[in-house]
Amino acid sequence: MPESFGTTIVTGGASGIGLATACWLLARGRSVLVLDQSKANLEAAKAALNEYSARVDFAELDVTDESRMLEVIASHVTADSPLVGLVNSAGYGKDIPFLETSSKVFRDMLEVNLVGTFSISREVARRMVTSGGGSIVHIASVSGLIGNKGRSAYGATKAALVNLTQVMSNELARHGIRVNCVCPGPIETPLAAAAHGGAGKKLWEQAVPMKRYGSPKEVASAVGFLLDAEASSYVTGQVLSVDGGFIGSGLLPD
Ligand SMILES: NC(=O)c1ccc[n+]([C@@H]2O[C@H](COP(=O)([O-])OP(=O)(O)OC[C@H]3O[C@@H](n4cnc5c(N)ncnc54)[C@H](O)[C@@H]3O)[C@@H](O)[C@H]2O)c1
Repeated sequence: MPESFGTTIVTGGASGIGLATACWLLARGRSVLVLDQSKANLEAAKAALNEYSARVDFAELDVTDESRMLEVIASHVTADSPLVGLVNSAGYGKDIPFLETSSKVFRDMLEVNLVGTFSISREVARRMVTSGGGSIVHIASVSGLIGNKGRSAYGATKAALVNLTQVMSNELARHGIRVNCVCPGPIETPLAAAAHGGAGKKLWEQAVPMKRYGSPKEVASAVGFLLDAEASSYVTGQVLSVDGGFIGSGLLPD
């Protein structure tokens, strides 16, 4: 079954990068299952994606609830539209100085950003093994690649996703499953607005060679490329920064 005919799950799909990715896929004729823990975001996403109602389904899910995750997938994924894609966008971050980061904050973030991504990926991959393969994309962060200030918990969870990508791509290639990772820089979403604040926004704009935030759509099109069985057929185990040049830059000109 070609990857274009089947269902793609987008976790955290009711806001920001996840919602833009769902929209990108739906606009190209794909079917999408949007999973999100926020009732309010799900309602807003339903309205935003109304024109695609024949090919989009929604369910409330906190990715840390493994038994509910298994139930949701079992009840929403049908044999006539097997899983061909998974985008792990559910996640959150907070800027907290290392010395003030509690173990609880660290564990909670790890549970959502890493363990939640791991457990749904394993379930989806098991299904893809029997249905003929697919593509999985984790949304990590540039903060998982370098030591951004205030990101000890967040950065560690995202760095772990990079290695998870590599191990999964290695083990799953024989089953026709490609696994890649996208590392966004500063992207205009509700999460970034809450985490960066006014001064933080200025700092990011100065540090990014392109001197601006990216849009969720600019991340979605990179994710879409990695989901596309034809466009990225030989791409697996990769980490793609979508960051206006942030990770590649050193000293910046004025
Ligand atoms: N916006 C940025 O600048 C930026 C930069 C780098 C990485 N990221 C990553 O991109 C991903 C998406 O972030 P965004 O900026 O679109 O944020 P967002 O807040 O706009 O969207 C995240 C969505 O995930 C959902 N979510 C959060 N925790 C969840 C859970 N436990 N189970 C299910 N759903 C959950 C939220 O309800 C929300 O709808 C995150 O993993 C984030 O770490 C964002």
